Amino acid sequence: MPTAPHAGRDVATLSADELAEVVRFHDLAYWRDDAALIPDQVYDQLVERLRSLAPSHPVLDQIGGGNLGAGDKVAHLVPMLSLGKCYSEAELKHWARELEGGLVASPKVDGAACSVRYDKTGRFALAATRGDGRRGESIGHNVAAIPNVPSQLPPHLIGGAEVEVRGEVYLPLSAFAAVSELFANPRNVAAGALKAKESGGVPAAELRFFAYDLMGVEVASEQDKAQLLTELGFDPAPTWPCDADSAQQVYDDFSARRASEDYETDGVVYKIDDIATQQRLGATGHHPRWAIAYKFQGDSGESTLEQVEWSLARTGTITPVAILAPVLLSGATVTRATLHNLSNLERLDLKLGDRLQLTRRGGVIPHVEGNLGGGDAPVVPPSACPSCGGPVLTRVSTRRVAGEDVETRTLHCAQPGDCPTVLRGQLFHYTRVLEIDGFGDKILEQLLDRGIVQDAAGLYGLSRERLLELERMGVKLADKLVANVRARRDIPLATFLRALGIETLGRHASELLASRWTLDELRQVTKDEVAALHSLGEITAERIVDGLAEQAPLIDRLLVHVTPTRSEAVEVDGGVLAGQVVVFTGKLEQLNRRDAQQLVVRLGGQAGSSVTQDTTLVVVGGDGLDAASPSSKLKKARKLQEQGHALVLEREADFLGRLGDAARP
Ligand code: IVH
Repeated sequence: MPTAPHAGRDVATLSADELAEVVRFHDLAYWRDDAALIPDQVYDQLVERLRSLAPSHPVLDQIGGGNLGAGDKVAHLVPMLSLGKCYSEAELKHWARELEGGLVASPKVDGAACSVRYDKTGRFALAATRGDGRRGESIGHNVAAIPNVPSQLPPHLIGGAEVEVRGEVYLPLSAFAAVSELFANPRNVAAGALKAKESGGVPAAELRFFAYDLMGVEVASEQDKAQLLTELGFDPAPTWPCDADSAQQVYDDFSARRASEDYETDGVVYKIDDIATQQRLGATGHHPRWAIAYKFQGDSGESTLEQVEWSLARTGTITPVAILAPVLLSGATVTRATLHNLSNLERLDLKLGDRLQLTRRGGVIPHVEGNLGGGDAPVVPPSACPSCGGPVLTRVSTRRVAGEDVETRTLHCAQPGDCPTVLRGQLFHYTRVLEIDGFGDKILEQLLDRGIVQDAAGLYGLSRERLLELERMGVKLADKLVANVRARRDIPLATFLRALGIETLGRHASELLASRWTLDELRQVTKDEVAALHSLGEITAERIVDGLAEQAPLIDRLLVHVTPTRSEAVEVDGGVLAGQVVVFTGKLEQLNRRDAQQLVVRLGGQAGSSVTQDTTLVVVGGDGLDAASPSSKLKKARKLQEQGHALVLEREADFLGRLGDAARP
């Protein structure tokens, strides 16, 4: 057993630094090794004595898991087990019949298991991977950035207990879409982003946490647990009550629905609802006896490539789609599979007539896994847009994956502003994003076919007379439609941006841009300025800037009728932090990191996630400026200062003090 520093000496004779060594030693023994060597009260007394000797000693900021570094091993308090599995109704019933009591079912989310621990005051202490089930890796630095993992639990709900929440971290499919050609599946991306030690890949802010277990607070049933998790600020896994007889129905219902969820699932988990019964049943070394996973079958199969179709999306991207001889996969006939982009097509070296290996990703999306060959007719990419016949352009983007540059080439209609398919898709998208009531697909199709409306801007010119030309249109409905469009003239800028239908300009990016710039400014920003915004990568930034330029004619036409308004009152030009690129490091005492970054943006600055040559201000949490072992960001900042960069280091308290009232929400 390791010995504590200064063992055998009277605590009263220790200096502050000596005492800090002792505290740090016991803190790691407790949080990292799960091997407390002294009773809690004794530890608390040591901390209190240190606090009275040196109230701002850096070790005090780091206790409660804060002494852990990325990748440090963390002992799980209770092993993180696996689940028993079954593949048929018969096996499921056999399991359920052996046990008594009601069941709850929940989706088995395909991500990475994660344990999150909070200290007695409800403060986020650490997060760890499953690892080998007994010890995982510390990933608190990344988990803290996941938007639906609370940094503080309401203390009155945990009654002074240390709490652990377990769940699955996953990358929503909507976020995976942007990187799908680079990674085999969202699970790998989530696992990589959790362990990442530096920024560059998919940011942890894109990940989500699906909470399925809670320890430290007593609850009577799984249903109560889900309720309490919600009150604590988590998004718990949905729980569907059922019993042995209705369990198959739950599985069938969810199988039919799972394709429309924003996460991948590989089965349904069934648990005994009553926690006392769970405890009585216990676990094997591998899995609890009170739970089972009923897995979806992910069939694989083969088929022949008959044709490659070039499909034009609303965004102007031309995507190759494999047209296949029909094949039955996981219970459905598959005749098409996306080939994503030119690079993927070349990587597979596809020829018409080839035999292809297919799966359904997550049991849902048909995917070409490999090429067995046999074909001979070449696949020729189009030289003209399949819709408007106009020119086609190839975009090349490079992304660093696992230390290597991966190039992706994609095809695009070069004149999306004049392409009927793009305009049609955009019009549909615009009415949906703006929630303009009454404009279903049928009405929009007729408006386009009759040439009454060419694009979203045309909606604002609609009159009762023109609408009456449509089938089954009455005066009342026509007036209502005109009024509905009129009502959507003042539009929050973020909504306006999203409504433009630019590929990478989804909800998150639109809100970020709108909180930083006016529309006029946005039409002139550079790729680098956008990329400097926290959590937007370079490729996204480039597509946004290009997309805004391509949509310039549509934006001009829309601006005749609509007024985009800034989402929040943002002081940009006059903002105290205008022109500053601010990075936070160390444990912030008064703000959580996200609030801190939002504050910077609100005051006209830019929030960066790492220290670079563009950084102008590094705000250091707690007493980190004096810490014996400075954070890597702080080291980098000092190095840049030595090299003559105009970079300022400031303590969190000084920074907030300087901002005064401006820092208050
Ligand atoms: S309950 C003993 N519920 O699946 C673990 N697990 O293959 C009790 N998982 O390690 C877990 N969704 O990481 C539970 N709704 C859900 C889940 C779920 C995904 C993961 C979990 C577990 C793995 C086992």
